[in-house]
Parts: sequence; structure tokens; C-alpha cells
Amino acid sequence: MKKTILITGGAGFIGSHVVRRFVTNYPNYHIVNVDALTYAGNLENIKDIENKENYSFEKVDITDLSAVQTLFDKYKPEGIIHLAAESHVDRSISNPLEFVMTNVIGTVNLLNAAKTIWNGNYEGKRFHHISTDEVYGALGDTGFFTETTKYDPHSPYSASKASSDHFVRAYGDTYGMPVVITNCSNNYGPNHFPEKLIPLCIHNIINNKPLPIYGDGKYTRDWLFVVDHARAIDDVYHKAANHATYNIGGFNEWQNIDLVKELCKQMDEKLGRAEGTSAQLITFVKDRPGHDLRYAIDATKIKEELGWEPSVTFEQGLAITIDWYLNNQEWLDNVTNGDYQKYYEKQYSLV
Ligand code: NAD
Ligand code: DAU
Repeated sequence: MKKTILITGGAGFIGSHVVRRFVTNYPNYHIVNVDALTYAGNLENIKDIENKENYSFEKVDITDLSAVQTLFDKYKPEGIIHLAAESHVDRSISNPLEFVMTNVIGTVNLLNAAKTIWNGNYEGKRFHHISTDEVYGALGDTGFFTETTKYDPHSPYSASKASSDHFVRAYGDTYGMPVVITNCSNNYGPNHFPEKLIPLCIHNIINNKPLPIYGDGKYTRDWLFVVDHARAIDDVYHKAANHATYNIGGFNEWQNIDLVKELCKQMDEKLGRAEGTSAQLITFVKDRPGHDLRYAIDATKIKEELGWEPSVTFEQGLAITIDWYLNNQEWLDNVTNGDYQKYYEKQYSLV
């Protein structure tokens, strides 16, 4: 009997890399990808593994309690790796309720369904919740987020993720459920939806459109290549003690303006443009409300306890990412049709 693991959000950016890793590396697992296929979900992201015999896909909205219960009755999963979420901060500012529904209610639906199906027998079971460093709020110019940093979310997105983390811990404490949580920094890499800074700028550089930089561009993020995040999830899923939390980060801080300038430089080389051409597209625009100044993860715990650390340098990861977008312009064209145009016009009306 294969062990069944439900991976939610497996048609999205990070989820697709996690699904690929688990389907490829664990032939003895049956991986069920559970995704509602919102604007951010795209089965093209996992086309290469869709015919593997240890893989199934279920189109389920995790806010739909009865659909979630039916799913759990059908598969009786031993593991859940939960990535499904509304993930974009700017969208959470215009539509917070959608974030409460998926990120909070959806998570609680999954917890309840797992609790019911496991019925107190937690041997060999695991509920791994994928969360973000944004729950910790914002840092000043110095310091790092550790696993014991107090929660202090500022955006509706981070508030909804913080709430879901609290529910996951509460189900661990109250019902003894075998939960683990990981809080990761900003990911980048192939299949990243072009509403987020790096793929948005790659798309706009290709199309000679303005590169919108919020505020003064001095906001700082810690960037991790998505394949390294998928490997960290694998390590934590298999090796962590129940109720553990691990921070995951890239040890790779960049101010947004420096990052975009670096991207412009590398894209000029790849596109055969004179150095400095793409940087002329940089445009400072109105700031994001509640914009967190700086995120930086201290990933010492996962390094010391589980032996995980990033394997891809930022130079390598950015080159792989740019090449992927240049070689997959059809993917970019498909995801930037229709609704994306409306979102873009509304979000960047001042550009
Ligand atoms: P994404 O937006 O690319 O993908 C989210 C996926 O969830 C999509 O496939 C979407 O269809 C699915 N989904 C959304 N609502 C759903 C619902 N109601 N029911 C079922 N499926 C639904 O997100 P991502 O960037 O891949 O992030 C994945 C997870 O990792 C999220 O929980 C996010 O909070 C977390 N995270 C992301 C980052 C990052 O830098 N992107 C960093 C740390 C943590
Ligand atoms: O830190 C982890 C988080 O990283 C994840 O939990 C989120 O799901 C993910 O979206 C990401 O959040 P950010 O808000 O940090 O990512 P984003 O790519 O939207 O923005 C990165 C930085 O760039 C941030 O300071 C805002 C800025 N920015 C973003 C966009 C889209 C701009 O200056 N211009 C833009 O057009």
C-alpha cells in the first residue's frame, strides 16, 4: 500500500516544485495534488509529471467543507502538506475577505478533516503547514527573525497567514495533532506568477514596459530559490519532531532597487541590449500601504538540526530563472492574458 500525501496548492508556484519533488523522489507515495485552480493555479506548471502513476489531481476548493470531507474520505491521507493560499500582499489590500476565506477557513477545514479521518491515531501522520516570514512583521536595519520572534503581521495577507499558523498550533496543542510549521522568506524561480516583483520585472523588461518600484525602493527582502525551499519542506516533513517550527531563508538580502538593477543588467546581457537599456524602465510609483521595511530570516535552526542550507547561489538562481522565462514565453503570454491585464491596470494605474 502506498502512503497517500495530499499536497494543497500544487498547481501554484511553490506547490508545483514540491509536487514534482515528491512525485519524483518518492515512488512509494501516492501524491494527490489538491488545487482550486484560481488565477494563480496552472496545471501547465506540472505537465511533466501529470502522467506518473503515483500522481493524481483533484480540483477542490478548500473553503468548501463538504468537498474537503469527501476528498479526505476518498483518499484517507497519512500526510498533508498545505500550500494552498491567496499569496499576494497587494491583492489582500484590495480584497481581504478572500484571504480570510482561503487562508484561515480553508486551513481550518483541512485541520478538521484530518482530525476526523485520523480519529486520534496519529502514528505515521503529519500535517505540515507552509507559512511565511511575513507573520513576524517588519525588521529595522538590523536583526533577524527567529522561530521565537513575536508575531506582528501588518497586511491582510500576513494577518491571515498568522491566523492560520495559530490554528495549526492550536490543533497541535488541543487535540495532540502531529503538526509542523515552516515560515519561509521570499521565493523566486521558474513558474512564479508575474504579479510578484521578480517575474513582473522580467515580463516588463521583455516587453519594454515600466518597472514599478514602490516608494523609494529601499525595502529589503531575503530571496531563496524555490527548489531549495521544496528541499527544505521535504527535510522538515520527514525529519522534524511533531509541533516543531522551522524558519527557512536564503541568507540573501537585497534592497528592491538593487535587485531590479541587477535583474536589468543580466537581462540586457541575455537580450543583447546595451548595458543600461533596461534600467531606464525603472519607475518609482506610489508605495504599498503598510509596506514592511525589511524581512530577514535566521535559518540557523534548520541548518543545525536538519542539515538544510541553500544550495543555489543567487547568481545561479537568477540566471536559471531568467533563462526559464525567456524559454517559456508562451507560459508568460498565457498567464498574462485576460484577467491579469485588468488586475495590472487597476494596481498600476499611476504608472
Ligand atoms: P501561489 O499563489 O503561486 O499558489 C497558490 C495555489 O493555491 C494556486 O495553485 C491556487 O490555485 C491555490 N489555491 C488558492 N486558493 C485555493 C483554494 N481556496 N482552494 C484550493 N486551492 C487554492 O502561491 P505560492 O507563492 O506558491 O505560495 C504557496 C504557499 O507558500 C502559500 O501558503 C504562501 O503563503 C507560502 N509562502 C510563499 C512565499 C513566496 O515567496 N511565494 C514565501 C513563503 C511562504
Ligand atoms: O516574505 C515571504 C512573502 O514574499 C510571501 O509570503 C508572499 O506570498 C510573497 O508574495 C512575497 O511577499 P512580498 O510582498 O515580499 O513579495 P512581492 O514580490 O509582492 O514584493 C517584493 C518587494 O517588492 C516588496 O517590498 C514590494 C516590492 N514591489 C512589489 C511589486 C509587485 C515593488 O516595489 N513593485 C512591485 O510592482
